[in-house]
Amino acid sequence: MKVKEPLFDFINPEISYQIVNGDSLSVLKKIEDGRFDLIITSPPYNVGKSYEIKTSIEKYLDTQEEIINELVRVLSNKGNLCWQVGNYVDKGEVFPLDIYYYQIFKKFGLKLRNRIIWHFGHGLHASNRFSGRYETILWFSKTDEYIFNLDNVRIPAKYPGKLHFKGEKKGLPSGNPLGKNPSDIWEIIANDWETALWNIPNVKSNHPEKTEHPCQFPIELVERCVLALTDNNSWILDPFAGVGSTVIAAIKNNRNVLGIEKEKEYCKIANQRVLDLQEGKLNIRPINKPIHKPSANDKVSQIPKEWLQLEFENLNGTYNKHNHSK
Ligand SMILES: C[S@@+](CC[C@H](N)C(=O)[O-])C[C@H]1O[C@@H](n2cnc3c(N)ncnc32)[C@H](O)[C@@H]1O
Repeated sequence: MKVKEPLFDFINPEISYQIVNGDSLSVLKKIEDGRFDLIITSPPYNVGKSYEIKTSIEKYLDTQEEIINELVRVLSNKGNLCWQVGNYVDKGEVFPLDIYYYQIFKKFGLKLRNRIIWHFGHGLHASNRFSGRYETILWFSKTDEYIFNLDNVRIPAKYPGKLHFKGEKKGLPSGNPLGKNPSDIWEIIANDWETALWNIPNVKSNHPEKTEHPCQFPIELVERCVLALTDNNSWILDPFAGVGSTVIAAIKNNRNVLGIEKEKEYCKIANQRVLDLQEGKLNIRPINKPIHKPSANDKVSQIPKEWLQLEFENLNGTYNKHNHSK
C-alpha cells in the first residue's frame, strides 16, 4: 500500500523525520508494509496517567492488539521490535505487562531474542511490597534474518587484561578488543530528576532530559537499541512517541524516524527538542556514561543526625530496660 502524501519532512539530505499528531491505529493504517527496521516504544500501561483512561486489563490489551497487528505489518522482514513495559497494578495486585504482551506477539509470529531487564537504582518507595526497580524490554525479531550489530554497542570489559590460560591461545588476550557484550541487564538511569538524586550536586546538570511528560524514556536506552538493531539508512517507528525520545535517539544516530503521538502538547515539546538537538542545545546524557555514585563523604551518603539521635535514644531505652529488669 502506498502513502498518498509524503509522510516525512527533511531534516538534512540523509535523515528524514516526522512527528505525527494523531491516533496510532489510524496513522499506521496509511503506511505501507515493511517500512520499518525497528519499532521501539513504551506503550501506555493503563495505570491512569494523565494521557490515558484506565480500563480493564482485557479491554486494554484488546486495543493494543489491534495496534500490534498493524505494527507487525509495517515491520520489515529483517526488522526488530522493542516493547518496553513495567507493571499494571490493580488494587495492590501486580500484573507484569510483558507476560501478557509476550502472548500477543507470539500469536503474530514474532520471535523473542532477549527479555532485557532495565534496572534503575532509584524510584518510588513501596510500603506494601518491595520497591520496583526494573522494567523490561521485550526484543522480538520478525524472522530469523534480523539486524544485529553487536559491535556498535559493546562496552568496556571489566578485565581487558584477562588471558587464555590453556589451549592454543594460552597467554593471548581472551576478550574482544572492541569490548564485551552488554548483556541483557541494562543499568540506565531512569527518572533521577524525581528522586533523592536531585540532592546530589551536578546530577541535574548531568542529566537534564526532563520535560513535562510523566514517564519519558531515557534517550540513552533507545540509542542502544537503535545502534544494535538497525543499519545506517534504516527507518525507525515509535507509535507512542511521547515527547520524542525515540525520534531524538534516531536522528542523533543518522536514522530516519517516524513518531506518532496523540497529545498535541507532547508533539510540540518533541518538535522543540528536535530543534534544540539540531542547534546543539539539547543536553543528553551520553550513552554508556557511568552512573554517578556518591562518595562516602557526600552528604547523601551520611546517616542524618536525626537518625543518629534516634539510635542513641533506642540504645539508651534498651540499656534502661536491661537495667530495670535486673
Ligand atoms: C509511556 S508514554 C511514552 C513516552 C515516550 N517513550 C517518551 O520518551 O516521551 C506513552 C505515550 O503514548 C501516547 N498514546 C497513548 N495512546 C495513544 C494512541 N492511541 N495513539 C498515539 N499515542 C498514544 C500517550 O499520550 C503517551 O505520551
